[in-house]
Amino acid sequence: MKESSSKRYQFFDQHPEIADFREDIVRGLSAPEPYILPKYFYDEAGSRLFEEICNTEEYYPTRTEVSIIRDNIDSLVETLGKDCLLIEPGSGDSYKVRLLLDALRPIAYLPIDISRRYLQDEAQKLAAEFTWLNVHAVCADFTGKLELPYHVESSNKVAFFPGSTIGNFLPEQAVIVLDEIRMMVGSGGGLLIGVDLQKDTDILNAAYNYKKGYTEQFNKNLLLRINRELGADFDIERFEHRAFFNEEKQRIEIHLVSLREQQVTIDDHVFHFAKGQSIVTEYSHKYTVEHFQKLAGKAGFRCVKTWLDEDQLFCVFYLSVIDHADNDKA
Ligand code: AVI
Repeated sequence: MKESSSKRYQFFDQHPEIADFREDIVRGLSAPEPYILPKYFYDEAGSRLFEEICNTEEYYPTRTEVSIIRDNIDSLVETLGKDCLLIEPGSGDSYKVRLLLDALRPIAYLPIDISRRYLQDEAQKLAAEFTWLNVHAVCADFTGKLELPYHVESSNKVAFFPGSTIGNFLPEQAVIVLDEIRMMVGSGGGLLIGVDLQKDTDILNAAYNYKKGYTEQFNKNLLLRINRELGADFDIERFEHRAFFNEEKQRIEIHLVSLREQQVTIDDHVFHFAKGQSIVTEYSHKYTVEHFQKLAGKAGFRCVKTWLDEDQLFCVFYLSVIDHADNDKA
């Protein structure tokens, strides 16, 4: 439903179902292997800490992806084609798309985000900054069904999904997310996606354990948030931040480990933690270029082009939707 419009800025509210924080936390902590969904990292304090993380020397993904985009802007624009409809699922502050806009000149930019107020603020800021740009903000949950808010004739619909957010999903879930994006951009459409690559374990461990302790604060902020918003009684001193690379699964795992036998309550729910028991708070999968291409293939995408940094830490892929007609010919 279209709720507000000016000439260039429009807002469409698809009324996403807001997950129930309490229900998700109780379900996660009651599981045989307790977990907290990583989307709950990002309250105000968590978002600020994530920004700090992105600015550290050890956390290479953000600056590496930014420099890949900056260094290859002409080639990126040539590959995506001018006059595309540019759609960004989980757009947040639309920071990285700013690197593309002037060169790409899309017919419209559609940021999609679940946080209604934040999306409206950021989208309006962007429309004011890029005085030629049509900004059509869509309030929706990109992990659910993805639908464009209006019919678009253009076959050149391109989704932009930077930051290796795809790595935070289990591979089988990642295929589902990519498949939704494929259905949204449709035949002739494409996806520009940033993916963190497999590399030396020491580099990975340092990126998630750096000296300044921001990841530890980011991780423990989850418990503070649960205490504050749900009236729980976590003692954060009794949990230890642990982040390590799991070779077999090729992923960073982030945990909160109970330092002693203890119990924590939320309303009338009591959770028992043995000494050494952990709560999983995040997985961050790392791929090879070939593995990721295979994964994208399962969701109906073909790799058109890749851009990597000199050290091959990170890869930006341009994927296009596999046409059934192509398959039939093959
Ligand atoms: C958002 N996401 C891609 C980050 C990552 O690297 O998996 C989140 C993060 N967690 C700890 N540091 C950064």
